[in-house]
Amino acid sequence: MDKRIENTKSKINSPEFQSFNKVKKKRIRRQLKKLEITKKRFEKIKQRANKSRENNENESENESENESENESENLDEEEEENENESESETKDVENVNGKQKENEKEKQKENENENKFDTLIKNNNNDIMSKYYSQRYRLFSKFDEGIVLDQESWFSVTPELIAQHIAERCSCNTLVDLFCGAGGNTIQFSFTCNVVVSVDLDPMKLLMAKHNSWVYGHSSENTNIEFVNSDAMNLSNLKADVIFLSPPWGGPNYTDSSIFHLDSMTPNGFEIFKNAIKVTPNVVYFLPKNTSKVDIAKLALISKENGGSELCEIEENYINEKLKTITLYFGSLVNNNNKNYESYQ
Ligand SMILES: C[S@@+](CC[C@H](N)C(=O)[O-])C[C@H]1O[C@@H](n2cnc3c(N)ncnc32)[C@H](O)[C@@H]1O
Repeated sequence: MDKRIENTKSKINSPEFQSFNKVKKKRIRRQLKKLEITKKRFEKIKQRANKSRENNENESENESENESENESENLDEEEEENENESESETKDVENVNGKQKENEKEKQKENENENKFDTLIKNNNNDIMSKYYSQRYRLFSKFDEGIVLDQESWFSVTPELIAQHIAERCSCNTLVDLFCGAGGNTIQFSFTCNVVVSVDLDPMKLLMAKHNSWVYGHSSENTNIEFVNSDAMNLSNLKADVIFLSPPWGGPNYTDSSIFHLDSMTPNGFEIFKNAIKVTPNVVYFLPKNTSKVDIAKLALISKENGGSELCEIEENYINEKLKTITLYFGSLVNNNNKNYESYQ
């Protein structure tokens, strides 16, 4: 973030800046202002995360609630001031471009989303956070640079090491991440694929994923990720070289039963796979370590019925020698060098 602010500042101080036209100059100044607002926001989030940790140890709940409410109010006021300023600046630009209405609509939408986003941060559940907080760098190595997660995401995000590994194996032109959540996988795919289409039913998850992708160097002007707010089960005309599936497993208690069944998921785990395999044979399915082997064999049959191969590679994902998850690879992503076939009936 600091680097981007510095780059924008040095652009403004460069001799070429004087030769830019009025519109371009304003655009660059506005960009700098936005970056500075985002930086402030990151700092507030960090402070809040630290505070909530301390609160869990020492302080009363009421005190912490009041504090974070006040903080958020201050932030709102600050942002309002900044936004008012940038609004008056943008007015000239809008007149020049003759796109006033379009820009106003966009701004309104942006404001609505930002308000929702603030509420999300304010409502972060301290209990959940404290339980998973120690694993924050495992989820995102750049956590301290402003990563935002909601309650569900604390236990849903794919740990970064695993996400990196999967992304390396899935390198392709267009990858669709059908259940993108807070962006754990999406961010890593963006480094190994030309285009990433990231879908989620929950608009808040998309806001988080977008925000988190900025922490990893993306920006609204420069990104290869397209975020789509949609039900993964209702997408038509989908085109992809690889489809990645990490649907919800039903909360953090999915290991309570000894075997995890695909039809216990919502949406149904078999239906999700059937939809994906119709688009491309190259499907990657991220699942609990205790997934039924019989269910996996059924997926291989579904792949065959849809014109693909019945081969499926089961990859076990370990962190610190502990089995965490499994990843299933279908189609051309199966590693044929590992011919350790097993038959499940
Ligand atoms: C396990 S999380 C994905 C985590 C993600 N891979 C990451 O690393 O951040 C599952 C996501 O699926 C989304 N979801 C649930 N049902 C969906 C549906 N029918 N269509 C699209 N997304 C859905 C949830 O909102 C949630 O964000």
